Amino acid sequence: MKFFIDTANLDQIREANDFGILDGVTTNPSLMAKEGIKGHDKVMQHYIDICNIVDGDVSAEVIATDFDGIIKEGLALAELHPQIVVKVPMIKDGIKAIRYFTDKGIKTNCTLVFSAGQALLAAKAGATYVSPFIGRLDDISYDGVELIQQIVNIYTIHGFETEVLAASIRNSMHIIKCAEAGADVVTCPLESILGLLKHPLTDIGLEKFLADHNK
Ligand code: G3P
Repeated sequence: MKFFIDTANLDQIREANDFGILDGVTTNPSLMAKEGIKGHDKVMQHYIDICNIVDGDVSAEVIATDFDGIIKEGLALAELHPQIVVKVPMIKDGIKAIRYFTDKGIKTNCTLVFSAGQALLAAKAGATYVSPFIGRLDDISYDGVELIQQIVNIYTIHGFETEVLAASIRNSMHIIKCAEAGADVVTCPLESILGLLKHPLTDIGLEKFLADHNK
């Protein structure tokens, strides 16, 4: 299972990359706004800066919601850097655009996915990644991890190559449950990744080893 970091914060991306477990980055317009990245040129430069930190795929989201607009923005994003994956919303024109990008050999990430039917359409259109938002489903008392399992099963049965990228991860347990469910990728806040490190018995054990060594 690949680990992506879900942020536009360069320091956090560097920290996760230096940690040695990072396979890629996902961003979205809200995450860019959170970092105060505004204006076309600054946004484009920020994507390049991210690509220069990590080796893996970097999802950059289109803002347009009509086919022509999505194509125009997506082509410009894809030209920025070979690591860019064009992130496209799960809407009718988005699916058409994913088919267009797929046929041109441009990688895509179909975002804002909340059902198996939507995931099926993304795979049919040839999306590289499909992004079910598990935290936002949990927020409204649907089981996000169950959706991951369902999509993984469907893709396995039918041999779809689209990778299941579990998004809207809120905690370390989400990461573990997604691993059990067979997600190909989890995209997480840094603190959820670092949470995987923690166990009180590790801390207690290390303290005792060091104390014994110093005796
Ligand atoms: O990757 C999608 C993610 O950024 C959404 O997360 O926490 O806003 O639901 P959240």
